Amino acid sequence: MIKIKSLLDYTVSYEKSINSPENFWEEIALKFKWRKKWDKVLDWDFELPKIEWFKNARLNITENIFEKNIKNYGNTNAIIWEPNDPNEKSIRITYNELFDLTCQFANALISTGIKKGDRVIIYMPMIPEAAVAILACARIGAVHSVVFAGFSATALSDRINDCEAKAVLTSDGNFRGEKIIPVKNVVDEALENSKSVETVIVAKRTGREVKMKIGRDYWWDDIISGKPTVHEAEEMGSEDMLFILYTSGSTGKPKGVVHSIAGYMIYAYYSFLNVFQYENNDIYWCTADIGWITGHSYIIYGPLLSGATSVMFEGVPTYPHPGRFWEIIEKYKINQFYTAPTAIRALQVYGTEPIEKYKLDSLKVIGSVGEPINEEAWHWYHENIGKGNCPLVDTWWQTETGGIMISPLASITPNKPAHASLPLPGIQPIIVDSEGKEIHGNNVEGNLCIKFPWPSILRTTYGDHKRCKETYFSTYPGMYFTGDGVKRDHDGYYRILGRVDDVINVSGHRMGTAEVENAINEHSLVIESAVVGYPHDIKGQGIYAFAICNESSKTKENIETEIKNLVRKIIGPIAKPDFVQIVPGLPKTRSGKIMRRILRKVASKDVSNLGDVSTLLNPEVVDQIIDGAGLKTN
Ligand code: PRX
Repeated sequence: MIKIKSLLDYTVSYEKSINSPENFWEEIALKFKWRKKWDKVLDWDFELPKIEWFKNARLNITENIFEKNIKNYGNTNAIIWEPNDPNEKSIRITYNELFDLTCQFANALISTGIKKGDRVIIYMPMIPEAAVAILACARIGAVHSVVFAGFSATALSDRINDCEAKAVLTSDGNFRGEKIIPVKNVVDEALENSKSVETVIVAKRTGREVKMKIGRDYWWDDIISGKPTVHEAEEMGSEDMLFILYTSGSTGKPKGVVHSIAGYMIYAYYSFLNVFQYENNDIYWCTADIGWITGHSYIIYGPLLSGATSVMFEGVPTYPHPGRFWEIIEKYKINQFYTAPTAIRALQVYGTEPIEKYKLDSLKVIGSVGEPINEEAWHWYHENIGKGNCPLVDTWWQTETGGIMISPLASITPNKPAHASLPLPGIQPIIVDSEGKEIHGNNVEGNLCIKFPWPSILRTTYGDHKRCKETYFSTYPGMYFTGDGVKRDHDGYYRILGRVDDVINVSGHRMGTAEVENAINEHSLVIESAVVGYPHDIKGQGIYAFAICNESSKTKENIETEIKNLVRKIIGPIAKPDFVQIVPGLPKTRSGKIMRRILRKVASKDVSNLGDVSTLLNPEVVDQIIDGAGLKTN
């Protein structure tokens, strides 16, 4: 049974997936198109780690989007593109058309010398070409790595260099609300520090003038011109790399999470179909950017593997007015709507007036992803958008998990405000204490691990397998560690409590504290810094930086602004600290470790119960920091 249709189906599927995972996933895999079937369904060892699903099978993921089903739904819309400016025409692309565009661009990529296994960076706005770019890479077996187009030149060149990309696909600019973002200039700057890139392909979007380097840069339209719209898909191994997606961790450098083809394909499809309960001819909309995993799995791969119609939106929720999301829901009669708590909270501020203008009765399912959704936002979303009768799927998952892990299945398993609720079939969560001992029973809290592989688990971190092992498989040997804290309530429902490591979740985007600190430390006057998260009404968490600076004639305010701008330049606007506090020192343990717990208290303006600080190396600094923040201890 692939599509779960009742609570009983869920229970039966879940039991089967635990008692005989190989049979469970094999049955689903048999529905796909393979050039050669597997020798073995699963081989795994979390110690190494090495995880292989559908061993030695051969396939191409795009054959499962196109060739497998095209006769059934060739004329169905695959993508409906809604531009930033509502007065501009939207674009509808059928599966037949998307197939042609993919093949044509696949041929174009090949003509520039890109081949199977090469890495291609996609640094593009939310335009149809971005979807075509992803699919064309998969078609020819090139490994795509989409970099969110809000990242800076430094962040982009770090990623290009880490995976030694051979090509960059970009645009002449991005429209985002009122802004035009000159992404091609960012690419040019990034490429000053990158040797591997031979080709840059530029899609025309804004029509703004950009510099084109002869022999390296090509216009999208020129390069596809005259290329055939047929292409024989490259035959790939099930465990070949499909994509790399960089994400922040608790150490300074972002890591390239690697997903392989077959397992990812099956899980993206299975989870999409079941969580959203997608039915033929439904119109589905996920508001994420393709630069994040949500865009990969639930704008592109999951929906397209299911023959769904996926809406792709170029703009932002508040442009040109705060009812834009609701207007789009009415315009396309959206049936499933999937967004982030930060967007909900940002729109909540405008009240219900912008909603009342639009008809939202097409909605069957609403969803949330990226961070814990607080109860207030949950109720607001459920009542005002879902009108109290749409299931709200609060989907917990990660870049590394490839697909949704813990979530209600719409209308099938119950909703509980602010709870991701129950694991999907195939997912075996386990709560452990700080020693790694399993915590049994209900009404318990601890660290969230997964004890058995699922098909779309990450396979490695690009170029550094040791780091993959250390980050995810060593803290609690024999288990995958998520980095999240969790509570299992009295009914056995999971509620995610947030990160337990040094990762801050800003508007659903992960930022490593070390990554921000490294950027701050680039300032010539900064001696040392520490960054923590604090509760933020809209963003979920904001970034608060403490910095020790050299004596200088500069004013404090100048340095604070310079530090903020520096982080923005080095990483991108999403990493810019909300607050920078210049401090005389940082609270440290006798072994020299920064006591972030104290800094988190200061940042959240709650300095009660600081605990015993007398054991610190420099206890006097605590009062100075509290004073500097304009707070008072009780
Ligand atoms: O802390 C969890 C939070 O986002 C982290 C994963 O971030 P990223 O890899 O960028 O992927 C985001 C989109 C899947 C998790 O470790 N998170 C994500 N979804 C939820 C969540 N926390 C609570 N509830 C969620 N629904």
